[in-house]
Amino acid sequence: MHDDSTTRRRELLPDAAGTVTRAVGVLRSGGLVAFPTETVYGLGADAENEAAVGAVFRVKGRPRAHPLIVHLAHRSMLPAWGRELPDVVHRLAEAFWPGPLTLIVKRSTRAIDAVTGGADTVGLRVPAHPLALALLEEFGGGVAAPSANRFGAVSPTRAEHVRVDLGADVDFVLDGGDCSVGVESTIVDLSRRQPVILRPGGITPEQLAAAAGAPLPVLGEAGETPAPGTLPSHYAPRARVVIVDPADLSSRLERERSSGLCAGSIDAASLPPESAARQLYAQLRALDDAGCDVVLVTLPTEAGLGWAVADRLRKAAGPRG
Ligand code: TXA
Ligand code: MG
Repeated sequence: MHDDSTTRRRELLPDAAGTVTRAVGVLRSGGLVAFPTETVYGLGADAENEAAVGAVFRVKGRPRAHPLIVHLAHRSMLPAWGRELPDVVHRLAEAFWPGPLTLIVKRSTRAIDAVTGGADTVGLRVPAHPLALALLEEFGGGVAAPSANRFGAVSPTRAEHVRVDLGADVDFVLDGGDCSVGVESTIVDLSRRQPVILRPGGITPEQLAAAAGAPLPVLGEAGETPAPGTLPSHYAPRARVVIVDPADLSSRLERERSSGLCAGSIDAASLPPESAARQLYAQLRALDDAGCDVVLVTLPTEAGLGWAVADRLRKAAGPRG
């Protein structure tokens, strides 16, 4: 662990160490720190400080029953935060941490009700971003963090998105540039008798199957999970989002425009899924900023990262309410 962190410090810009130390001070005093991860920016608080965790829910405008992910510096911290960990937990953590995978496990007493929404489980993740890892290592404890956007809105993939969304409600923003993956972590629930995927994300089902030794089932649409990522209208921009067939994209665009609407498009089907994922949220925001009434989107093939991109686009196009 020591070797990892020494290497990481050398990778950081010369003044980044001082910035991280200030961010750690904010966390220790119960404040909120927005920080970059490889997926999206998180809105972090000391996971063991009930008041600080409460502030995260207030600022996000998120219902208290929707639990937060606890971010850790290293997989060796798993037993401190979880209990009754089956083998597959260690196998997945070893294969994908640091990385875009969240593991739901039975919680230890360290995971307080404010974080888990009173559930007997906790979501844990070691993010793969040098600034996030420097923050987590220097802080030492767990950092509870949802995506750093208001509830139901588009997740932030650069520091500027966080500043625009949350303004003075966040005490410190660590700027780590653009997120490299661009969609949230894959969530796997390992607290049940059988592992189950709750949310598609940065680790693909193919990667999970290879590490787990068998394909993991996906929680059905009718599942009773409280995860807000499973609500139909999540990840939505202001503009109306409409899914169209790639062959119809240009004619539909012309039709919308000739009817007097400001129309934009995201042709995700035409991009490698990694690029579509990386650009997705910034594109949705840019189209909103341009005043678009409607955004026409095409869906990528649902293999690899294309699955997560299609999931987010479907949710952005879902009924609002
Ligand atoms: O990539 C990510 O996962 C980002 C970065 C910041 O790490 N975080 C993120 O957090 O997307 P959030 O809060 O926007 O989404 C976390 C999802 C929610 O749907 C939440 O309900 C679910 O994880 N979740 C967290 N703990 C859970 C638990 N114990 N059981 C079931 N679902 C849980
Ligand atoms: Mg979110």
